[in-house]
Amino acid sequence: MMKWTAALKTGVALLDEQHREIFQWLAELQSAADDERTLFGVYSLTRLKQYTRAHFAAEEALMKSAEFPGLVEHAAEHAAFRQRLDELMLKSIGQDISTDTVEFLTNWLTTHITKTDMAYVPYLKKPK
Ligand SMILES: [Fe+2]
Ligand SMILES: [Fe+2]
Repeated sequence: MMKWTAALKTGVALLDEQHREIFQWLAELQSAADDERTLFGVYSLTRLKQYTRAHFAAEEALMKSAEFPGLVEHAAEHAAFRQRLDELMLKSIGQDISTDTVEFLTNWLTTHITKTDMAYVPYLKKPK
């Protein structure tokens, strides 16, 4: 299971804090999957959903105010993830969370942070 590491650091304090929290919920989700704790799995997935929603909104607001030119494409990736997460939540009702699901979410978020999120860093850190 991928953990949050310094390689995922954007240098934007608020967003790094949120990324860390997202990884915290991924770890909780993994432990729910390992122990086959269905209710805890659903709870962790719900928390992950809330955290990613709040995080995506914060990120999009910062990109907008920094006039980041890739905002539309970036926001589309967020929307696709939200939709996928909704589908996974529906699928998970009454079932154990599978390790495949946790892996998918972890891989998606890791790739998104290292590729897509990193692209906004020079814009967000640019002095105004
Ligand atoms: Fe992010
Ligand atoms: Fe993002």
